[in-house]
Amino acid sequence: PASDPGLVERARKAKEALGERLFVLGHHYQRDEVIQFADVTGDSFKLARLAAARPEAEYIVFCGVHFMAESADILTSDAQKVILPDLAAGCSMADMATFDQVEECWEALEDAGLADDVIPVTYMNSSADIKAFCGRNGGAVCTSSNARRALDWAFDQRGKVLFLPDQHLGRNTAVLEMGMSLDDCVVWNPHRPGGGLTREQLQRARMILWKGHCSVHGRFTAESVDDVRRRVPGVNVLVHPECRHEVVLKADHVGSTEHIIKTLEQAPAGSSWAVGTELNLVKRLAGMFPDKNVSFLDRTVCYCSTMNRIDLPHLVWALESLSLGEVVNQITVDEDTAHWARVALDRMLALP
Ligand code: 13P
Ligand code: SF4
Repeated sequence: PASDPGLVERARKAKEALGERLFVLGHHYQRDEVIQFADVTGDSFKLARLAAARPEAEYIVFCGVHFMAESADILTSDAQKVILPDLAAGCSMADMATFDQVEECWEALEDAGLADDVIPVTYMNSSADIKAFCGRNGGAVCTSSNARRALDWAFDQRGKVLFLPDQHLGRNTAVLEMGMSLDDCVVWNPHRPGGGLTREQLQRARMILWKGHCSVHGRFTAESVDDVRRRVPGVNVLVHPECRHEVVLKADHVGSTEHIIKTLEQAPAGSSWAVGTELNLVKRLAGMFPDKNVSFLDRTVCYCSTMNRIDLPHLVWALESLSLGEVVNQITVDEDTAHWARVALDRMLALP
């Protein structure tokens, strides 16, 4: 079993044997049994910034999902090897925008005479080739903690944004943080001819949102918020911007995982919080702040199944293999893709 103390001891020993040659990064949504071995923890933005923080480390074990490990490979030196303990740890949202679909969309925008008007911005939760697409076409990457700043930058360049692949983060940022109206946003459906949009709709829109969503955050509903308000008097509702627009509208606070943690750190003792984000993190926060009443926004929503694929047995296997000199599950991005994805990532990292 994952909580087997024997496995904990094996992970500890392998980590010790690797010493400074190893750097373990852990996203906040990882299991406790894994996060205890992370040298640093963070949200996507913090981990992208920290990936290159240990240039002397030969192995970077990424406890998170595939697109994060790809970004770490892009942002670190050629000599460093990035390892994802289970290759099946993907992200359903990232899979909702394939390179071919995005190219098709771009061609349609060109056909509509909009090529010079649109700038592509992709959420970090996308594959390296989508990031590279943005880099090649003058665009950038953003994360949930800097989407507003990335969009301000993008609108300084051109009049419209193609926002990939999370429609909710795009809409929530545009409408709730930048004062746009819902009518300024249209949704490009990659499964419909022409995205399901007319040329006039494309010409009128300021935000062209890709029809993608997070399969975890997308499950919270407006009723989840109403229900918790009925159950817990005086509760503060704190949600991630990957939640649907109507959920964010009903919430009291919205922000990335790092923001959620800081908000709870600063909350007064005795206050009540219903948190709409991934369950591993919410459970950990409830344990970290026993003086506050921290609960999960909707008890029918479950863990991110792909984040959860990184478990202690996979971590032990990866660490023990590395300690024996065998590199397993290395994530590599080809040179051209890495170059252009880095251009898009660097534009994000240079944001004020
Ligand atoms: P952040 O790490 O940017 O908060 O994003 C959450 C997420 O869904 C990561 O997969
Ligand atoms: Fe992808 Fe959502 Fe899981 Fe994050 S929480 S890895 S966006 S499915």
